[in-house]
Formats: sequence, C-alpha cells, structure tokens
Amino acid sequence: MDTVEQTTNMMHEEHVIETHHLSKSFNGFMAVKDLNLKVNKGELYAFLGPNGSGKSTTIKMLIGLLEPSSGGVSMFGQSLVDHAIDIKCRIAYIPDTPNTLGKLTGDEYLDFYASIFKMDKAVYEAKKHELLSLFELEGKTNQLIEGYSHGMRQKIVLVAGLMHEPDIIFLDEPTVGLDPLSTRNLKAYLKHQTTLGKTVFLTTHILEIAEQLADRIGIVHNGVLKAEGTLDNLRALSHLENATLEDVFLKLTERGEAHD
Ligand SMILES: Nc1ncnc2c1ncn2[C@@H]1O[C@H](COP(=O)(O)OP(=O)(O)OP(=O)(O)O)[C@@H](O)[C@H]1O
Ligand SMILES: [Mg+2]
Repeated sequence: MDTVEQTTNMMHEEHVIETHHLSKSFNGFMAVKDLNLKVNKGELYAFLGPNGSGKSTTIKMLIGLLEPSSGGVSMFGQSLVDHAIDIKCRIAYIPDTPNTLGKLTGDEYLDFYASIFKMDKAVYEAKKHELLSLFELEGKTNQLIEGYSHGMRQKIVLVAGLMHEPDIIFLDEPTVGLDPLSTRNLKAYLKHQTTLGKTVFLTTHILEIAEQLADRIGIVHNGVLKAEGTLDNLRALSHLENATLEDVFLKLTERGEAHD
C-alpha cells in the first residue's frame, strides 16, 4: 500500500465522533447508559431505537445542548467541553421539531443563520439557492415563517442548518412532515455529502431509510446500545439471515419475533 493510500485510509477511519462512557440521568432515571460510540469520517450512521430509548437525549449531548451526567464527547479528536465553539462551527443539528422564529421571513431567518456562521456572501447565496431549490422553497422565502406549513418549516430549518456545509450533520427524525419528493431529495443530499467526506448521524423510525442509506446502524434500547454494525453484522448478531431490518430491530429490542 502506498503512502497516499495509507493516508487516505487513515483519514477515512478517523473517528470524528466519539463518546466515552456517556450517560444521562433525569432525576435518577437513566435515559442513556454508558454509551461508547465511534463514528468514522464520511460515514452515515443511523441511530435507531424504540420511543423513549434515549436517541434524542444522546444527540443533544453530542451537540452540546444537554450536559452529560457522566462521561464525555469528543469530535474531530477534540473534547467538546474544551473546544465547544470550534466544534459547533463545524456541525449542524436538525432537531425533531422545527423550532423557528415565526416573526421572521424565510430570507431573514436564513440571513440570521448565515451571519452566525460568518458565511461569505457569494457562498451563502449559492448554497441558499441550491438548498431552497432542492426543497422547493424558492419564491416562498419572502413570507413570514409563521405562515409556513409544518413541512415548509422543517425544510427551512434544513436549509438553514445545512448552508454552512457542516462536517458533521446531526438529524433527529428529519423526514417527519416531509413529502415523498423532499424525503427522496434529502436522502440523496445526505448520501452525497458522505461522498464529500462529511459525516451524517441520524435517528429515524423509518427503517427503510436506515436500510437504504446507513453505512452502520446502532440500535439502542432503554438507554443501552444493544448492537452496532452493518445490516449484515446485525443480521448475524440476531441470527436472522436475509431478514429485513424490521425483523432484526424487533428481535434486538426484544419486542417481537421475526416472521417469514
Ligand atoms: N428533559 C427531560 N426530563 C426528564 N426526562 C426526560 C427528559 N428528556 C428525556 N427524558 C426521558 O428520557 C428518555 C429518553 O428520551 P428521548 O427523548 O431521548 O427518547 P427517544 O429515543 O428520542 O424517543 P422518540 O423515539 O420517542 O423520539 C425518556 O424516558 C424520556 O422521558
Ligand atoms: Mg427522539
């Protein structure tokens, strides 16, 4: 193997997200227990689990919105606590509910985001145009966001979050409320980002999305990471050859028997 190839492999294998014994308790209830995750650069990682299993809590700790009860998070090889600002400039978080500023127009909202990330004007205009077109929001950004439908709000949050070309994109159930074309466009966009070396970490209850897109899947249940790997790894772990992810998921979360 030559040096260039070795370097490329090392870069690919770099862990851009790493958690160390990450735990969170709410008044004594352990929502996330001793989580040790490693996500590689350029990987699309799907974090799956039943309702209340700790997915959103984990994402909020990963992006620094929620303080862990114990353990910690590193991103790009740096501690999130010690390098919070640098890290936050390089990531995006798309929450499960689109919290927007209703009294702003779409344009004002996007301008606000561009100013937070100190985006170059030409880059901003180009990315804004690309993403608004991807999500069919062009011509709608002079309206107040409070007049947007749920799906339109979800989309403007996606545009705002993705404009600064983050190195890691965290998405918590991003397709909820999106129509089929927007869902397809978002999936293609995220997969394309991984080919550019960006990393995607998402939660979803739509197992088809994980099946189609994910390089690796983590399955969490009651705050514990039960299994992790490619779909084939998970099939082997659950002793279900050729099974769907749904069967594997239900078996690994002890919530149902696989069927033929
Ligand atoms: N702020 C909070 N205060 C108290 N308990 C909380 C808080 N946030 C989350 N929890 C609890 O932690 C557990 C995990 O919640 P979390 O939102 O992470 O689940 P989830 O896997 O994202 O579920 P869903 O699929 O429904 O989105 C739940 O039992 C929830 O009630
Ligand atoms: Mg959640």
